[in-house]
Amino acid sequence: MRLIVVSNRVTIPDRQEKATAGGLAVALREALEQHGGLWFGWSGGISDAAVHDIRQIQRGNVTYAVTDLSEAERQSYYLGFSNRALWPLMHYRLGLTDFQRSDYMGYLGVNRRFARALASLIQLDDVIWIHDYHLIPLAAELRRRGVTNRIGYFHHIPWPSADVIGALPFSGTLIRTIAAYDLVGMQTELDVRNLIGGLEALCGGRRDGQRVRVGTRETEVQAFPIGIDVEGFRRLATASTRQAPTPLRATRESLGERKLVVGVDRLDYSKGIVQRLEAFGEFLRSHPEHRGKVSLLQIAPPSRSDVPEYAELDRLSDEVAGRLNAQLGEFDWTPIRVVKKAYSRNALAGFYRRAEVGLVTPMRDGMNLVAKEYVAAQNPADPGVLVLSRFAGAAQQMREALIVNPYDAHEVADAIRTALAMPKTERIRRFEALYTTIAAADIDWWTQRYLDALTGRAGVPGVEAEREKPRTGTRRPARTAVITKRPSQDGKSRKVSKESPRKPEALAASHLAVVRP
Ligand code: F6P
Repeated sequence: MRLIVVSNRVTIPDRQEKATAGGLAVALREALEQHGGLWFGWSGGISDAAVHDIRQIQRGNVTYAVTDLSEAERQSYYLGFSNRALWPLMHYRLGLTDFQRSDYMGYLGVNRRFARALASLIQLDDVIWIHDYHLIPLAAELRRRGVTNRIGYFHHIPWPSADVIGALPFSGTLIRTIAAYDLVGMQTELDVRNLIGGLEALCGGRRDGQRVRVGTRETEVQAFPIGIDVEGFRRLATASTRQAPTPLRATRESLGERKLVVGVDRLDYSKGIVQRLEAFGEFLRSHPEHRGKVSLLQIAPPSRSDVPEYAELDRLSDEVAGRLNAQLGEFDWTPIRVVKKAYSRNALAGFYRRAEVGLVTPMRDGMNLVAKEYVAAQNPADPGVLVLSRFAGAAQQMREALIVNPYDAHEVADAIRTALAMPKTERIRRFEALYTTIAAADIDWWTQRYLDALTGRAGVPGVEAEREKPRTGTRRPARTAVITKRPSQDGKSRKVSKESPRKPEALAASHLAVVRP
């Protein structure tokens, strides 16, 4: 079997890139290396040549096949339909959704062009794994060209209910194309329920357990909560304390003994950055004893800045941070620092480890890997506390975080205070439970589990209805039968065996309710 991965953007690795690439890119590359494979998608470049060449670049066992977009395609397919219609809609932001027929035509056109190019590269026993909302109709376009291979799709962002999706013109036609996939992976059980509900309500689909029949096709829809390279990130963070990268060293020097609250997000309205700044201001106003003793560092690399809503967020976040610093700061203390640039994974791991509080408060998020990275980076002997939005997919697994409603500035402010005052024993207890959870469902587990389900190598057990009921109290994560690694207080990782009737996949899928511990 050869694996073909398709994603909107494809980054061709250079020699240094291994160290900076995120967990998903590394995990997919590893899967491709293992099986031998092809990674297909947009090069990230723009060229207006009438015929768009496919460039193939070989790296080890993997062929990267990339194409440029024309400026018109970038406007309609990427900025327009993907990021001004689908992105806000999928993040429950109907008010921001801007639908233009011409963008939708451009979106379909790029999917058709990708399918045409890809179809000529596909061999008989290839397994195809397509990622992200930019490429929903790609399988249908491939099927139209006679491709009969197994094709899977993974949806990295939330999937809202049929009521919300149904507001999109042509939503029934678009969603029906989902049925061309053999397996659809979502981040959470809520997303699974919403997608299946949408297929039933908008496309006349019929559900049979985790399978949905639409017309003549049957598709399996399951939750595969994405993880990170927990062990790798833990190692990065441990190393950062010994060989502090320059930004971290400078931050340490300027902070001195002050406590640090950290947020790291692409500059995107779904991440709740402005609301987070306001909540931090509320915390300082309602708990003045903390003034001068704690700072918020918000790292927010700019993203999709050609989309007007992102440009507005850029302006607004500066304005809010400026206002709060002017109102609450002192000549020798800046309460909030917003840094709009990207840092290396090394530096991020160091910031997370230095921060007493990780503030991860998206208004809506498919999973949110920063929450997992923050936990993986902590010093087991003196860990920080994660404050996590109930609307991040990660909240369904990471129950020992302080779970908050990001729309309620007072609640977030209270959680920051609670986190800063939390006794060490409780911090360690919460950290250990969280670490165990994320280590049991890391990025390798995710890749393997998805590919096993797609290739039919493993039956993936369904999720029992009982686990979908909201929980009403603090619980430790379910014990699992896997051997996983847990960091010891000396910072080295030890193998620990956890006993339970539950399988690791059940563990990750089981944390469905939002509970404030
Ligand atoms: O979370 C969805 C996603 O499309 C990721 O796959 C991607 O890395 C991220 O958003 C950033 O998107 P863009 O390519 O638009 O910068």
